[in-house]
Amino acid sequence: MNIKLGLVLAGVLCAGTLAAEEATIDDGNGRTALALTPPEKAYVLLQMRQFVESIQIITGGLADGDKAAAVEAAAARGLKRNQNDPAFPSTLGAKLPQEWKQFGGSTRKGFDALAEALGKDGDAKQPLKQLSEVMKNCVGCHASYRVVDARP
Ligand code: HEC
Repeated sequence: MNIKLGLVLAGVLCAGTLAAEEATIDDGNGRTALALTPPEKAYVLLQMRQFVESIQIITGGLADGDKAAAVEAAAARGLKRNQNDPAFPSTLGAKLPQEWKQFGGSTRKGFDALAEALGKDGDAKQPLKQLSEVMKNCVGCHASYRVVDARP
């Protein structure tokens, strides 16, 4: 075997071992690793960034009295609009642990309920309280899981 080919092979073997280990070793803060393929990971993380974006619009809308923007931002993250998302990777559902689904389901339903509450008359206090409750799911899930790259 020539040296170059040997080095490439060694590199490939090491990368494979590292990916496998990464999925099983504890990262030091006790989170369960969820091994996702690149499209699954891209989908999940896009949803996450959309959560932050919507929360920014909701809190900004509440502060500025722009309820319509807040209602729309909350509804956009709710279960009603997302349960049949055609972009949801077909391979993803089977990988999601039960506890993950509970956190995710409560988050989505919480945004639906928040959209409804925001549509009613009243001050910002109650919707903010509801948003805080919804965000306990963000905190809980982030404390429980991390994403790692699935072995190819
Ligand atoms: C069902 C579990 C779950 C829920 C619910 C959840 N997240 Fe996440 N989120 C994750 C995981 C897992 C990661 C990846 C963390 C890691 O690998 O270190 C993540 C990553 C993120 C990221 C980083 C995105 C990126 O592009 O890297 C943001 C921002 C985020 N979440 C925001 C939120 C917000 C805000 C909420 C609540 C409205 C939320 N998440 C709810 C599991 C969840």
